[in-house]
Amino acid sequence: MSESSNNTQLTENKNLKSESLKDESRRKLLTGTAYATAGIGLACAVLPFIDSMNPSKDVAALASTEVDISNIKAGETKKVMWRGKPVSIRRRTAEEIKEAQEVNLSELRDPQQDSDRVKTGKEEWLVTIEICTHLGCIPISGQGEFKGWFCPCHGSQYDTSARIRKGPAPKNLEIPPYEFVSDTLIKIG
Ligand code: FES
Repeated sequence: MSESSNNTQLTENKNLKSESLKDESRRKLLTGTAYATAGIGLACAVLPFIDSMNPSKDVAALASTEVDISNIKAGETKKVMWRGKPVSIRRRTAEEIKEAQEVNLSELRDPQQDSDRVKTGKEEWLVTIEICTHLGCIPISGQGEFKGWFCPCHGSQYDTSARIRKGPAPKNLEIPPYEFVSDTLIKIG
């Protein structure tokens, strides 16, 4: 083969290589653009869905409820609904508080100090979810051997701190999360 023919062949090879590199970079650019477009599309499709999972303002408002306790006298219980559950706010008498505080923890099935079930300095207020921990009946407040709650379904009895004392229920009545907004207003939830 002549030298001129060799040079021509070399030039053609270089051109082919250059074209091939251009094709490769074009391919990469197109693939990158396709991925970016798909990513934006996915984000557009998913964002409204995620947004729909956030609670609406109505639902968020129901997540907590404020209760005026100014008109509850000692020995009385006010009942409210919170997240579909009955909640009782009992203003305990001095005698009820004393009884709750003097119980020996070794006598309790679900041992818990009364002080762990009320707010410090607000011992007269006991806030509980009124659902029996046995099978979910609604116990009656101010009733039973321990003067706390009595469940008519199977006879569970709770004391003045709503702790289980007798009957089949395994646990104390639950205390919901709550706080005092002021001396006369509590926020549950
Ligand atoms: S549901 Fe209350 S004792 Fe069974």
